[in-house]
Amino acid sequence: MTEHKTFKVTFLPLGRTVEVREGHSVLDGALNNDIDLDHACGGVCACSTCHVIVKEGFASLAPADEKEEDMLDNAPFLTRTSRLACQAEVHADLVVEIPPMNRNLVSEGKH
Ligand code: FES
Repeated sequence: MTEHKTFKVTFLPLGRTVEVREGHSVLDGALNNDIDLDHACGGVCACSTCHVIVKEGFASLAPADEKEEDMLDNAPFLTRTSRLACQAEVHADLVVEIPPMNRNLVSEGKH
């Protein structure tokens, strides 16, 4: 019997906490739990719409590679703990915030 370790990832400002399997991306964790995180390129590090700001657990993430850094340079509301959710693999409990720009896109997309 294989037990898969999971960690808790909390998405702000939704205040939703979900279980994410170790090694899965933050984006997988969101999408598997009906959290509508933008992912225009489909999770291949070719956009910056999956940008999240890591509030807790940043040190547990593998450092961003050059490609991710380049993509993040284009992200609005960039912070020192910004990551692309599709590139950030979960290895500990995390708290991440969806930046205001992306929240607006989600709600304004219906107009
Ligand atoms: S979904 Fe495009 S970079 Fe993450």
